[in-house]
Amino acid sequence: MAVSFSNDIMPIFNQFKGQMMWRFDLTNYDHVKANASIIYDRISDPGGPMPPPPLDPLSSDQIQLFQQWINDGYQP
Ligand code: HEM
Repeated sequence: MAVSFSNDIMPIFNQFKGQMMWRFDLTNYDHVKANASIIYDRISDPGGPMPPPPLDPLSSDQIQLFQQWINDGYQP
């Protein structure tokens, strides 16, 4: 089954809701789709990490899931 925003991605980002409100809403499908490439760079790059320290980075499973969501064509 394809990775979907509402089932797989939104639950990962939900805990950070509101903390980046002035940029984009991590729980909003259109915002995350529009920023998918920079989001992927930030969650996968140990040098420019999001979420920022002292928060834990996303797990490699979560990062792969986000990549798969992109590859699957941004399913809602
Ligand atoms: C998995 C969760 C998160 C993701 C995917 C994420 C993603 C991003 C992305 C892509 C940008 C760059 C936006 C741009 O340049 O247009 C950014 C910037 C920023 N984020 Fe996050 N973020 C997350 C969590 C958080 C949290 C929890 C905080 C605060 C505690 C935060 C604070 C900031 C700040 C202050 C900036 C602007 C400064 C900068 O670009 O480094 N983010 N984030």
